[in-house]
Amino acid sequence: MVNTGASLELDSRFKKMLTQSKEWLDLKLHAGEALHWKLTDLLENSDRFQEYAIDSRYLLVDFQRNFINKETINYFKKLLNFQNFSTQREKLFNGELINYTENKSALHTFCRSSSPRNNIDPAIYTEIQSIKNKIRLFRNKLVNGEITSNFGNKINSIVSIGIGGSHLGLQLTIDALKEFKVSDSPEIHLISTPDKRHVQDIMEKIEVHSTLFILSSKSFTTQETFAVAEWILNNYFTESSRTDIVKKQFLALTSQIDVALSYGIQPDYIFKVLDEIGGRYSIWSASGLPLYILIGETNYDLFLKGAEDMDNHFLSRETEKNIPVLMALLSFWYTNFFNSSSQAIIPYFFRLRYFPEYLQQLEMESNGKSIDRQNNQIQHKSSPAIWGGVGTNTQHSFMQLLHQGTLFIPVDFIAVRAKNEKNIFDEILSANLFAQSDCLAYGNQTHQQKEINAEKIISGNKPSTTIILKNWSPESLGSLIALYEHKVFTMGILSGINSFDQFGVETGKKIAEDIYSYFSHKKNYLNLSLKKSIDKYLEL
Ligand code: F6P
Repeated sequence: MVNTGASLELDSRFKKMLTQSKEWLDLKLHAGEALHWKLTDLLENSDRFQEYAIDSRYLLVDFQRNFINKETINYFKKLLNFQNFSTQREKLFNGELINYTENKSALHTFCRSSSPRNNIDPAIYTEIQSIKNKIRLFRNKLVNGEITSNFGNKINSIVSIGIGGSHLGLQLTIDALKEFKVSDSPEIHLISTPDKRHVQDIMEKIEVHSTLFILSSKSFTTQETFAVAEWILNNYFTESSRTDIVKKQFLALTSQIDVALSYGIQPDYIFKVLDEIGGRYSIWSASGLPLYILIGETNYDLFLKGAEDMDNHFLSRETEKNIPVLMALLSFWYTNFFNSSSQAIIPYFFRLRYFPEYLQQLEMESNGKSIDRQNNQIQHKSSPAIWGGVGTNTQHSFMQLLHQGTLFIPVDFIAVRAKNEKNIFDEILSANLFAQSDCLAYGNQTHQQKEINAEKIISGNKPSTTIILKNWSPESLGSLIALYEHKVFTMGILSGINSFDQFGVETGKKIAEDIYSYFSHKKNYLNLSLKKSIDKYLEL
């Protein structure tokens, strides 16, 4: 049963603007009090950890160092109700058309569903399973040496060419789950940036006649991806026919099957990315094929299992015990009532060093919007800017600003309890993580030690959330990614915006095409300022 979207119409036509609602105004009044709270006072409550540390199967999240109390949660609940959050969440999991500007559903959670969902058309689940089965059979052939290059060589490496959602999920997971690589899998390399230096760095690591190239592009039109592919074809395969090379050594992960066929990719090497799965949510789909090949079916299924566990947590927990919902509410709270415009993501775990960059697309391409469901310009802030880095390096780069600067920047710290790995640095990492979150909260103004030299005062009273992965595994990583997907979804619902389209990136692509044509003299008009800049650039 798929909703025609008609009920969305009814929902939105008569709805008051969020910032004019009683729910918003009540929360605003509450913020007037909360802005004067001291975290040190809130943390005096000995039950606070018990109340604000929330467990899921793979994660423990400590929310105690945040500006919230029971009243705040109640106001949050009213705001969620005003935006029909529960109904919208149900529509997401029922495959209804919640991507209302493109009249599409968002099916990423269906990819990790271990069984068909009740009263949902089983065809979606069947199609996902058949795509996964095609990937499984392909991997088996690959590792059994049944797939050879145009030169008859066994394949020992794969280069995936893609950008945005066709790259960032792989960049994160291929590196993060390196230790879970199955021995028989080929090396996986990624190219995203259309820059000869990047391409050469990767090409010098591989034997081109024993390599499969993956064109990872949902639209199969992204300029950068195909510029890289053409450059490789024209510069590394000069002695062979393009048709044979593309047929034997190029794969496609895409929604555009016909376009891939006309590019010359053979049908067995085309893996369908469902159109209803957005790029930034696509690691769970055929876009995750390189990860599947690297870690194998068992580990990939555990990755999905971790995400599904977070799906069930998100669906079943009431607000005060719902990790993604609370993370969304806090981000919304600080962004709209604490004058915060960015949020720092700081994993104290080297294998998560690409996580902040991954979240930049997930959060900002999803919620970097300003028009709501009623086509009104929203009067509130829909998303913070997301940035960060890996700890403890961040303590030697930007933590100074967070401790003594003039900006209010909430932090998500991420720790991994990797007891099974006996990493001698774990104590250094965890000691520093907890020290940073404590110092942000208390500063150096506690009763025991009060700094009096003005330039050395650390005021504290800065919030942070600490996310602890209970172990390091495909499951815990899957759960962490799903956690932020649901946080982003909830923030979008709170704002009444569509988290699943990305029209904001289309215009820039069009201007780039015009400039590209100007470079090749196929076009001679650019606006004055642009023409001046470009002409000067060309003179240099
Ligand atoms: O950044 C815009 C965008 O469309 C992303 O949403 C997408 O992940 C990326 O470009 C790559 O698109 P494609 O997978 O179609 O090449």
